[in-house]
Amino acid sequence: MKYLLSMLLIFSFADAAKVVAVGEKYKSSSDCQACHNHIVKEWKNSWHFNSHYKKDEYFRASVDYVSRKTHKSLNAIKVECATCHNPRISVTSTDTDYEIAAVLGLDKNSKVNKAVHDDTLNEGINCVVCHNIDKIYSELDESHRGMNRVSWSKTGLMSGPFSDANSPYHKTEYREFMDKDPNQLCFVCHANDHTATGKIFINMQEEYKGAKEKCVTCHMGEKRELYASTLRVDNGKPKARRIRAHGFEGAHTGSMWKDALKVSADISGDDLVITLKNDLPHNIPSGFGSREVLIEIEYKNFNGKVGKDFVSLTKHYLSKYKKPTIPHMAERSSADDSVPAKGEKVIKIKYNKKATTAVITVSYRLVNDEVRKILKLKDPVWSQKMPIAKVSVKY
Ligand code: HEC
Ligand code: HEC
Ligand code: HEC
Ligand code: HEC
Ligand code: HEC
Repeated sequence: MKYLLSMLLIFSFADAAKVVAVGEKYKSSSDCQACHNHIVKEWKNSWHFNSHYKKDEYFRASVDYVSRKTHKSLNAIKVECATCHNPRISVTSTDTDYEIAAVLGLDKNSKVNKAVHDDTLNEGINCVVCHNIDKIYSELDESHRGMNRVSWSKTGLMSGPFSDANSPYHKTEYREFMDKDPNQLCFVCHANDHTATGKIFINMQEEYKGAKEKCVTCHMGEKRELYASTLRVDNGKPKARRIRAHGFEGAHTGSMWKDALKVSADISGDDLVITLKNDLPHNIPSGFGSREVLIEIEYKNFNGKVGKDFVSLTKHYLSKYKKPTIPHMAERSSADDSVPAKGEKVIKIKYNKKATTAVITVSYRLVNDEVRKILKLKDPVWSQKMPIAKVSVKY
């Protein structure tokens, strides 16, 4: 019996990662626009739309860097990262034969080259990534994420949160991961990722302390009264529905950071004591490896500024040659100094005795100095300080 069960498990897992071609009618978000324009517009402002090589400078620079350092072709790395960044790609791995063809420049007409340059992939994580998933295999271990954790429905079948939806354009089916248990869907990719040698430095699923808190409540917003489709299917009117927004606002949106941590400060003996309290169900910083919380202190007295100091909460990564590197090429990382989920972090530093006041500014950056330098990132968005909170304390 046990044997039979494990065989059944193996057979059902085998469906994960199987490529199912998306029909021409559903490939691009523009195919959905006629009836879901409001949703398409919101999603186009999201970083799911931007998760592609052509649109995200940081992602592009990381792919290029990994390709250089691993001596693998650019296309091979693109295919690897596509597991989560472009899961509808039609090729899921590359082999040594491909590497040889790529080195010789003979891969122009190969399946891999065509797959990587398919126009609809430019849309990144689009509608038919999330809504064409049939099953999620949450039982699979850490190494199975992205397309390796899901199986796809037949093309033209949209999984959604409603059990009574009818559309003339596509079939619909209710799924729990679109309604009661959407965290499962987010954890398909947001766990987050492993390095070239399989190391995992940040795991959002493991650190999550919110069994009942849904990612969608905060990152797609509370449900509001509107309609899912503009098609007039309900006595000449669009059917009224309770829906969420598809903006997936997060770390790249400055306004989301305001008060994301509660900050207080005190003086105890010779020390300035700063407390960061995190009410969120995940750590901060969390997610992708190079994120940073920056604490800047300005000391003042009646003469004006008399000094400054700073503390950076981030991870530093070392390559196998013990040189600073980017998360994907790391062999080891510095200790985790993030503010834990539903917890707090207390930071003590020597108080500058010349000052009567210390002003403490806490902000967030998408990429720390070290990684920004290694990758030579140019867009100001990567170094921009997004304000979280500001407090002051008197001596
Ligand atoms: C197929 C993989 C995948 C799935 C499924 C997925 N995401 Fe993402 N998500 C990503 C990737 C990759 C990025 C980073 C894109 C980039 O920055 O280029 C991202 C980025 C984000 C961001 C960050 C936006 C920002 O401004 O920093 C948020 C928030 C987010 N996702 C929320 C969710 C939620 C909520 C769910 C579940 C409903 C979900 N994601 C499901 C892969 C996925
Ligand atoms: C990262 C995953 C993800 C992507 C990408 C995505 N959706 Fe959704 N979508 C969801 C989730 C989760 C829900 C359920 C939200 C809820 O709780 O109501 C949903 C709900 C919907 C609904 C039902 C209305 C509602 O808000 O509940 C429609 C229609 C829809 N999506 C269409 C689209 C279209 C069109 C696109 C592409 C422009 C798209 N979705 C992209 C995850 C996604
Ligand atoms: C000709 C109009 C039309 C087009 C084009 C269209 N849809 Fe729909 N869709 C609908 C209607 C109508 C509904 C049902 C709305 C309701 O019941 O509230 C629907 C429902 C949905 C749902 C919710 C299903 C559920 O069971 O909860 C999703 C998801 C969805 N569509 C995704 C898409 C995607 C992705 C595309 C583009 C590939 C697309 N639709 C193109 C008309 C359309
Ligand atoms: C109670 C609200 C809440 C819930 C629930 C929640 N988040 Fe967040 N999350 C936030 C806020 C607020 C931030 C900080 C500002 C921002 O990035 O949006 C954040 C930040 C993030 C970041 C960026 C982290 C960093 O340090 O760079 C990611 C990625 C993310 N959330 C994904 C998720 C995922 C995936 C889930 C579900 C497993 C989830 N969030 C659940 C509110 C929430
Ligand atoms: C297991 C799924 C998964 C795989 C595979 C994956 N990523 Fe990601 N990646 C994510 C998620 C989820 C995010 C968003 C996390 C966040 O915003 O904190 C992300 C974000 C990023 C970011 C930050 C983008 C930004 O705009 O800030 C970079 C850079 C990145 N990934 C590079 C890569 C590279 C290079 C590869 C391939 C070598 C890769 N990723 C493979 C899941 C994955």
